[in-house]
This record gives sequence, structure tokens and C-alpha cells, in this order.
Amino acid sequence: MNEGILAGKVGVVFGVANKRSIAWAIARAWKEAGAKLIFNYQGERLKDNVEELVREFGADTPLYPCDVSKDEDIEAFFEKVRGHTDRLDLMLHSVAFAPKEALEGDFVSTPRSAFSMALDISVYSLVALSRAAAPLMTNGGSIVAMSYLGGVKVVPHYNVMGVAKAALESSARYLAYDLGAQKIRVNCISAGPVQTLAARGISGFSSMLKHYEAHAPLKRSCETAELGATGVFLASEGAASITGQVLYVDGGYEIMGM
Ligand SMILES: NC(=O)c1ccc[n+]([C@@H]2O[C@H](COP(=O)([O-])OP(=O)(O)OC[C@H]3O[C@@H](n4cnc5c(N)ncnc54)[C@H](O)[C@@H]3O)[C@@H](O)[C@H]2O)c1
Repeated sequence: MNEGILAGKVGVVFGVANKRSIAWAIARAWKEAGAKLIFNYQGERLKDNVEELVREFGADTPLYPCDVSKDEDIEAFFEKVRGHTDRLDLMLHSVAFAPKEALEGDFVSTPRSAFSMALDISVYSLVALSRAAAPLMTNGGSIVAMSYLGGVKVVPHYNVMGVAKAALESSARYLAYDLGAQKIRVNCISAGPVQTLAARGISGFSSMLKHYEAHAPLKRSCETAELGATGVFLASEGAASITGQVLYVDGGYEIMGM
């Protein structure tokens, strides 16, 4: 459907853990649209998994370790990227983490350490990665980050991750302002619930999915392939004047008041 619309574009993808990852769905869609991609993996534990997946794009698809909470990893990753290309057009940020216990009880109990860890890995990383990618986006670029409604409304158990998503969306707006003069656009996709590794950590996740099926206008949440298609749109010329926005891909759930 989108064949060729990202032909000649080069992108970096952060956040593939396994075949269910939203990052994988968006990477596949970017690749099908013609983009060349370079991947991170979080650490040795995930390396084999990610390597096996990205081989689907060709045996020589580059992938390098990058724990986004470490400045030295980010620096080393982009050094490797510069060995493959002198220009970047796309970056996907599909990374989040909060300690499991912070996603179970009540928000008021969130320890300082869980709060700062969630905000560092899930939000500051967008700032640090954008700062590293921007100098390579010499022809403009599109940065896409993944968010969730829990950043603007209370979703029980989403807790500190909701606060992180609010900060992520706000960071995307400030980055959009800073980088706009370089024709670099920064947008968020706010996805409805999807069964992934990260989602498994949220207590009551399957009842969230059922809630969307019962209450969303489209009577469902979203498919990862649909997130991929939206990722292609945001990366394409069709979105050339869209920046700092949050696009809901959630079966329409966001419009509901009851
Ligand atoms: N699954 C959902 O229902 C849903 C809904 C809306 C938004 N999101 C968001 O989508 C994004 C992707 O999550 P997902 O659901 O695909 O789950 P996932 O577990 O497949 O992806 C999360 C990724 O974050 C990476 N990560 C965590 N800590 C890291 C670190 N220190 N350094 C580098 N990478 C690190 C993991 O390796 C993993 O690849 C997240 O931002 C998540 O909040 C998910």
C-alpha cells in the first residue's frame, strides 16, 4: 500500500524486543515503504532475539547495543550509525520501563527511585536520542515516539508510566519547537492497548483490552500493523507540516467521556 513512499530514507529504530514489539511493526512498515533501517537492542539478553528478527530485512541489517539510560551507549551507538550513513531521516522511539511494583498498587506509593527510573528511561531518552540524531538529519527528519492515553487521563495501575507519558508528549512538543528550524518533526502516536512484553507488566492489562472492545467507537483497540501504517504516514511527505502532535490510534477510545 505504501510501497516506495519512504524510498531512499534511512532510519534508526529503538525498542524492538521481540516480534510483538510495536517497534517491530513500525519497522516492518517503514521497511516495506522503502526505508533502510539500523536497530538497537537493549542488551545481550535481547541480542539473539532482535538479530533473528532483523535478519528478515537482509543478513547485513545493522544492529548495535544501546541501553538508553547510559550516555556512553548512546554515543557509541551513533558512532556506529555514522559508519553506515552520513544522513538520517527517521527515528523511532518505542522504549519505556518502570519497575513492576510501580505499576501495581496505588500511585501515591511510588518510590523516588521508581519515579526517576521510569522518567529517565521512558522520557529523557527521547531528548538524548533526538540530540544525537539531529546533527545527522541534514535534510530534515521525522522522529516518532510511542505514547498512551494514561498520560492525559487516569488509567488505574498505569501510575508512574502515565506521568512519564505526559512528560514524553510535552518533551515531543519542546523538541518539535527546538528542531523545527532544521525541518525535523517530532510527533507521538498514542496507541490503544496492545499485547506486548511491556504491557504484561501492567496489572489488569487484559481487562483494559476488554474495556476498549466494549466502549471504543470502533469496538476494539488497534492492530500493530495499523500503528505501522501511522508510523509511515508520520515519516512521509504527507505529514510534512505536522509536528509536536499526538495522534491517537486507539479505535477512537480517546473521544469517549463515558
Ligand atoms: N503495548 C501497549 O499497549 C502500548 C500502548 C501504548 C503505548 N505503548 C508504548 O509503546 C512503546 C513500546 O512498547 P511495547 O508495548 O512495544 O513493548 P516492548 O516490551 O516490546 O518494547 C519496550 C522496549 O523498551 C526497551 N527498553 C526498556 N528499557 C530500555 C533501556 N534502558 N534501554 C533501551 N531499551 C529499553 C525494551 O528493550 C523493549 O524493546 C513503549 O513506549 C510503550 O509505553 C505501548
